[in-house]
Amino acid sequence: MLTAKRILSCLTLVLLASFVFSSDLFGEEQITINKIVINADLGKNIINKNIYGHFSEHLGRCIYEGFWVGEKSPIKNTRGIRSDVVEALKRMKIPVLRWPGGCFADEYHWKDGIGPYELRPSMVNTHWGRVTENNHFGTHEFLDLCEQLGCEPYICGNVGSGTVREMQEWIEYITFNGKNPMSDLRRKNGREKSWKLKYFGIGNENWGCGGSMRPEFYADVYRRYQTYVRSFSGNRIYKIACGSYGENYHWTEVLMREAGSLMSGLSYHYYTVPGGWGNKNSATEFGEKEWFDTLKKALFIDELIQKHSTIMDKYDPKKRVGLVVDEWGTWYKVEPGTNPSFLYQQNSLRDALVAGLTLNIFNNQCNRVKMANLAQTINVLQALILTKGEKMVLTPTYHVFEMYKVHQDATLLPVDLQCGQYEFEGDKIPALSVSASRDKSGRIHISINNLDPNNAAKVVCELRGSKAKSVTGRILTAADKTAHNTFEIPETLKPAVFKTVQLKNNILSTTLPPKSVVVLEIK
Ligand code: AHR
Repeated sequence: MLTAKRILSCLTLVLLASFVFSSDLFGEEQITINKIVINADLGKNIINKNIYGHFSEHLGRCIYEGFWVGEKSPIKNTRGIRSDVVEALKRMKIPVLRWPGGCFADEYHWKDGIGPYELRPSMVNTHWGRVTENNHFGTHEFLDLCEQLGCEPYICGNVGSGTVREMQEWIEYITFNGKNPMSDLRRKNGREKSWKLKYFGIGNENWGCGGSMRPEFYADVYRRYQTYVRSFSGNRIYKIACGSYGENYHWTEVLMREAGSLMSGLSYHYYTVPGGWGNKNSATEFGEKEWFDTLKKALFIDELIQKHSTIMDKYDPKKRVGLVVDEWGTWYKVEPGTNPSFLYQQNSLRDALVAGLTLNIFNNQCNRVKMANLAQTINVLQALILTKGEKMVLTPTYHVFEMYKVHQDATLLPVDLQCGQYEFEGDKIPALSVSASRDKSGRIHISINNLDPNNAAKVVCELRGSKAKSVTGRILTAADKTAHNTFEIPETLKPAVFKTVQLKNNILSTTLPPKSVVVLEIK
């Protein structure tokens, strides 16, 4: 039965809609009122906090100078790990961190990265600039980092150039508490008790840098390697098979068909590359064409996930296997004057919108997406943090993750969005992106992005099935599309209080400024 309140809300929406219609009839400029309906008393899927995960590879200055400065550094650190970075990542509640790659993972031999520093052999990082890697940041340092961050470690093993034995022994070294040669070696290196390690990847991009394999071949290799990735001492491993990228649906089909029953998760990679691989954009010098192209490409991941997920449904209708989007983000030209192999790029308001809309997509598809890891945490690709000597800057992308942390482990709420279009040169995309959740204490959070860089968006949002009393909000925006934080001016972009939102009879009304990311909290 309709309650009086619900009738009132419906009437308000009808009135607002007719206002749009009539203003058009009188030949005035059409005002689009975007309508959102949120079913606050429904929702059954949990947004896995690991969707807010990150990725750190031995690439450029991500590990060295990013996370790791060494104990003797004048930069404040705990056992060699930068304290400012740890504090910042804890503030945004980093849930999981993937390491050591990436393409580096399939060239990494973990035994080179344990024991006294002076005895660790160097190697050449062949994939990323052929620079010398001294192996000072290894297994103990990574697991120490995760303990300092309070996050779950996710280690990617070497399939491309490593042996089954090497992988088996790594798992034993980390997780076996009894007595065997590997646990003895760990103790000799100063760690008595085994670590907990839940997430383990069996290779990375084995269709490319991880061994150029065909899916049929990799499926068998996966079956073999995963046999020796054992759960010891109460530690239960979530095995992640190397998955597909972009529109390669064949890889997903073969992997699910041949090895689906032996995996807990299947990875997936998608990068937003405006201009394309051969003609990448600058991270900070761009116009509306590049803005539109970037957001359109970023939105495409919605369709990609749906299609890969449909293939997975065929073999796994109960959605037991998680889709683990363990590399995603923007990929631009490197900053002028920097090593092209180090993938160092700046990060602007455009990246904040990419982060906001992508996280909304992951939230809305959380029945299949169980983890995602942005590439990469510090100084590489769509980074959260940039460092220069002792200086550290938080990027707009960092601020989006910090604002969205309220969705972690909350219940996804079904959302119906009817919105206007953002049109550019005859092409169009939806002007708004939205997702909503209810946390354990009953607070509702709505994250809305206005992708249009020119027009504000009037929004009316009905909260069905809630007794909303108050609303507060935060916003991230700037006057300029290309706005970004620098070492000289580090706070051009940071979240501000968002006040222009009203709540009456369970109806929220607001106007979102152009090119903005907003998170509302309703109590
Ligand atoms: O993140 C940079 C690289 O992109 C990773 O090493 C690889 O997995 C992907 O191709």
